[in-house]
Amino acid sequence: MSAASSHPIGVFDSGIGGLSVLQALQSALPHEHFVYLADNAHAPYGEKTDLFVRQRTHAIADHLMAQHQIKALVVACNTATAAAIHELRTRHPLLPLVGVEPALKPAVALSQTGHIGVIATRGTVASDKFARLLDSVQGQAKFTVQACNGLALAIEQSTLPGSAEEAKEAEGRIAALLAQYTSAMGAFGPGPGQMDTLVLGCTHYVFVEKPLRALLGPDVQLVSTGEAVARQTRRLLEAAGLLRHGPAPASAAQRMSLFTTGDLHGLQAASQRWLGLPHAACHKAPTQV
Ligand code: DGL
Repeated sequence: MSAASSHPIGVFDSGIGGLSVLQALQSALPHEHFVYLADNAHAPYGEKTDLFVRQRTHAIADHLMAQHQIKALVVACNTATAAAIHELRTRHPLLPLVGVEPALKPAVALSQTGHIGVIATRGTVASDKFARLLDSVQGQAKFTVQACNGLALAIEQSTLPGSAEEAKEAEGRIAALLAQYTSAMGAFGPGPGQMDTLVLGCTHYVFVEKPLRALLGPDVQLVSTGEAVARQTRRLLEAAGLLRHGPAPASAAQRMSLFTTGDLHGLQAASQRWLGLPHAACHKAPTQV
């Protein structure tokens, strides 16, 4: 086991969406330590320019490498992966790197009707990387793709601590956006021609699976990528001889440090809600990131 194997794995997203990937990572890799960075001060990425997202991705990767000596990086954001993973690989050829992309191939294998819906940010949907991904499954199913402006932001806002009334308002906003976007896509269901599979092409959307299920009914399968990303991370670490061995840390809080460039209370509330972490696991990122 090399000395580097005891270093943490870096994970980042524009905000809390990547916590859905961190959930999968920590259960697949219980011996590992993780450093998570939520770039809340610059979210949502999906409605920013490509150049902006690339610059943020490089700044965060450099910070995690220099300050936390990460042994691998998981880009837990479809938008940042689409914009920057290629450049990141060129810049850091020795760093094991895992990105996320909408799970079109798994969806093809799952769909019975052959009609698949995809929801993602505008940045992901407009990217060349997504166009190539769509091309690679051409002819295997029909895809209806919807960019969901405002949805990631509404999900971020729904986790901010506030009154019960504010929480209800945020949930109402999410429900209205989901209804608007899914009805624009067409009919969902198991019937001929209907979409029986919906790909969640943004890591934030995993946190609205419940209202989505309520809206689309029990026959529509929701497909996300957290578990596949965790498996791929494990494979890469194994191949590089970088898996951490020895006893697993006693608590999740001991092996996860979370940082935000934005509102600390929001990250604390979200990580408590989704990962059961104590507030002490969350910190403000240094201002230069
Ligand atoms: N969670 C991110 C993704 O997977 C981005 C959401 C956003 O910041 O727009 O695409």
